[in-house]
Amino acid sequence: MGFVYFCQGLGLAIAVFLIFILLRVLWSWWILPNKAYQKLRRNGFSGPIPSFPLGNTRDMTKKNTRNSSSSSSNIITHDIHSTVFPYFAKWQKSHDPEFLKKMSAGVMGKTWGKPTVFKNDREPMFGNGLVMVEGEDWVRHRHVITPAFSPTNLKAMSSLMVESTTNMLDRWTSLISSGNPEIDVEREITNTAGEIIAKTSFGMNYGTGSKVFDKLRAMQSTLFQSNRFVGVPFGKKAINECAPQQDLLGLLLAANRGDGHQGKTFTTRELIDECKTLFFGGHETTALAVSWTLLLLATNLDWQDQLREEIKQVIGDGELESTMLAKLKKMGWVMNEVLRLYSPAPNVQRQAREDIMVGDVVIPKGTNMWIDVVSMHHDKSLWGNDVFEFKPERFKDDLYGGCNHKMGFLPFGFGGRMCVGRNLSMMEYKIVLTLILTRFSFSVSPGYNHSPSHLLSLRPMHGLPLIVRPL
Ligand code: HEM
Repeated sequence: MGFVYFCQGLGLAIAVFLIFILLRVLWSWWILPNKAYQKLRRNGFSGPIPSFPLGNTRDMTKKNTRNSSSSSSNIITHDIHSTVFPYFAKWQKSHDPEFLKKMSAGVMGKTWGKPTVFKNDREPMFGNGLVMVEGEDWVRHRHVITPAFSPTNLKAMSSLMVESTTNMLDRWTSLISSGNPEIDVEREITNTAGEIIAKTSFGMNYGTGSKVFDKLRAMQSTLFQSNRFVGVPFGKKAINECAPQQDLLGLLLAANRGDGHQGKTFTTRELIDECKTLFFGGHETTALAVSWTLLLLATNLDWQDQLREEIKQVIGDGELESTMLAKLKKMGWVMNEVLRLYSPAPNVQRQAREDIMVGDVVIPKGTNMWIDVVSMHHDKSLWGNDVFEFKPERFKDDLYGGCNHKMGFLPFGFGGRMCVGRNLSMMEYKIVLTLILTRFSFSVSPGYNHSPSHLLSLRPMHGLPLIVRPL
């Protein structure tokens, strides 16, 4: 008898537990998203209705997967938004840079955080470093990190950049002379940029830097397998399996033995997160800017010649000095135009930490915002009918490239959280490109498939093979 009561009691407890779980699931995955949707609609934002249980995630992932295999092409078109972000292209009705302006001017950087789903997903890469940290901690981190990018510090890094790039170009020379003129420039330049950031930020020698670099890259590619559901439980199961054993922790602690508490110093954990952040934030984006530039110069030989001519005038046959870089004006326009057409950081994220008034619209607490940089940079109504053409001269006398709204050009983000490394990346871009252009000319390889894809950054899905010839 006692056993029967026990079984009935257990059955009841299991039933209550299951009902509780079911209600939790319905609440979190159906009722809450629909409530948020209705609230946003009342505030004038339209969009697709979230479906149960994964909202619009399935739509996004399905299209991405299909897209990644079908969008490759030998035709090089710069009209890439609908292939890189087909779901945004479908859902989006219009752009309102004015909204971004109000958002960035009217509220403190502290009221906006980074989406929780994004922070959790990228935790292995950025931890709670500057890209992700929020509130008062963000103010402290930004305050400590900004001086590291002072002109004096940057100047001291230039010779290391020249050294690593020269090594890469010497390797290209050997490859070409052994009969291999086709070089995957994206892979080469990303490796070199990784070496540069390891040397410049952490003082690592190449051997140590490349080991850490390989492990971090392995972690990144695990994170960006195209069929993962970001933010869906168990979606990142494989990540720990490839976590580096001897990671930056050991290497960095040796060089950074302080353990601060409040004020200007970082705790050990914070220091590690910042190092990972600089490593990831600091090499791939710049490498992609250079790589996409090589593609655009390979298809616009006139600009290849114009830049070579400018380099000859500014630098002549002498040594490349960092003070000369500011005089490479045309190269600056080319960089801006490349960042416009192929923005390495194709979107910027924010999450409202409280109900926030932007103009007369309320952004409800918890709302995630994805600012679609590619679509802003490719919007005819902002840039004109030649929006898909490579025309660096649009930046000649205008920092915003003739865009009819100042928030329409956002390669480095906006507001207080704008990229802290932008001056470093401009310096590196000019040094690497100058050295390449003075030694080589290049054209597109017949094996190149034009397939810009969103893999955190905007990358050529199948690499970027070019035919490289010594000058
Ligand atoms: C072409 C190169 C680069 C591009 C396109 C780029 C783009 C961006 C973008 C779009 C953001 C987000 C801004 C926002 O949320 O409003 C950002 C933030 C950041 N970037 Fe860069 N970046 C580049 C190079 C670098 C380099 C070289 C470093 C470091 C060595 C770096 C470190 C960071 C950090 C730490 C943040 C977070 C800043 C904060 O939230 O306060 N970036 N970058």
